[in-house]
Amino acid sequence: MRYSPLPGLIDVHVHLRDPGATHKEDFSTGTAAALAGGVVAVLDMPNNTPPAVDGQKLSEKTQIASERARCDFGFYLGATEDNVGEGAILSHRVAGLKIYMGQTYGPLKMADLAALMAHFRSWPAARPIAVHAEGLAVAGAIALARLYSKRLHICHVSRKAEIELIRKAKESWGAEADKLTCEVTPHHLFLTQADVARLGNLAQVKPPLGTEEDRAALWDNLDIVDVIASDHAPHTIAEKESPEPPPGVPGLETTLPLLLTAVADGRLSGERLIELTSENPARIFGLKRDKKTYIEVDPDDRYVLEGSSLRTKCGWTPFEGMTVQGRVLRVYLRDALAYADGQVLAQPGFGRALF
Ligand code: NCD
Ligand code: ZN
Ligand code: ZN
Ligand code: ZN
Repeated sequence: MRYSPLPGLIDVHVHLRDPGATHKEDFSTGTAAALAGGVVAVLDMPNNTPPAVDGQKLSEKTQIASERARCDFGFYLGATEDNVGEGAILSHRVAGLKIYMGQTYGPLKMADLAALMAHFRSWPAARPIAVHAEGLAVAGAIALARLYSKRLHICHVSRKAEIELIRKAKESWGAEADKLTCEVTPHHLFLTQADVARLGNLAQVKPPLGTEEDRAALWDNLDIVDVIASDHAPHTIAEKESPEPPPGVPGLETTLPLLLTAVADGRLSGERLIELTSENPARIFGLKRDKKTYIEVDPDDRYVLEGSSLRTKCGWTPFEGMTVQGRVLRVYLRDALAYADGQVLAQPGFGRALF
C-alpha cells in the first residue's frame, strides 16, 4: 500500500443546515463527513432557516459552529434587498457575499436589479461576491462585477455555454482576470441527465444535471476552472421522495475519492487536484494553509461508494454503487490526528472559525 500525503481540502461550498434544519445535517455530522472526505475547512452557505443575512444571525451561527464543528469553518453572508449597508460592514467576518440570482433551495433569491447593483457597488473589493447564477444570469453577474470592479466567484458552473462564456470573460479581463473565479461540482463532472432515470428524485439538484455535452465541456475547460467544491446539500430520503423534492445532493465524502479516481484514470494530474481543492480556494478566500494540516491517502484502494457507510446525516449519495480508486486514510488538523482508519477522532468544538 502506498501512502501519499496531500494538503487537506478546503470545500468552499457546503450547506451544513445548522441552524434551522438539523434533521438534515448539523455542524457535528457535517464536519465529521468533511474529515472523512479529507476536507479540513468548509465555507458554509447562508440559506439557513432563518437565513444568515445580518450580524446577529452570523454571531448565532458562529456560536453554534464553535461548539459543534470538528473541522475549521467560515460563512458567507446572504444578500437581501434590505442588507446592502450592513452587508458591506460585515464583510470582514465572512468568506464573501452570496447572491442567489436564481431560484434554489431557500428564500434568498434576489431578482431586483437595483438591489443587485447596490450590492455590487457597496461590497468591499477585497472579498469575493459568490453567485448562484444559471444561464443568462451568469452573463449578468460577470457584467456587474466588471462594471463595479469587484471580485466574482461563480458557483457550480454546469453548462457548456456558461464555461465558454467564463473562458471568454477571463481572456478579455486581462490583468484583472484573477478577479473572476469559478467552481464546478463533482456531480456535474461525473453525472448527467442520463443518470436521472436511475436516481429519480435523488438526482434533483440546482443547477440540474447537464447533458453529456455539458459534462464533457466542463472537463475540456477544466484548465480555466479555479475550484472544485462539493455543494454538499443534504436533504433526507423522505424529503427527496416527496412530491416536491428539494434540490440538492450531499458530496463532502465523495469529492476526493472521485477526483483521485480521475487521477488514477489519467484525466487529472495530482498537481491540478491540489490546486483545485486547496491552493486556489486558499488564495481566493485569503486563507492561510498550515504545514501541520494535511491528509494521507491510499491512491490504490478500489471500493464501491455506499450511502450507508457515509457520516452525513442524510445517509445517501447520488454516486451509490460507483467504483472509485483512492481512500482517505488519515487527516491531521493542526498536528492533531482528526480522522484515522474510518474513525472521526476530532471532537465537536475542535474546529475553529476562519474569519
Ligand atoms: C442547495 C441547497 O439545498 O441548499 N441546493 C442545490 O440544489 N444545490 C442550494 C444551492 O446551492 O443552490
Ligand atoms: Zn446554488
Ligand atoms: Zn449550494
Ligand atoms: Zn501548484
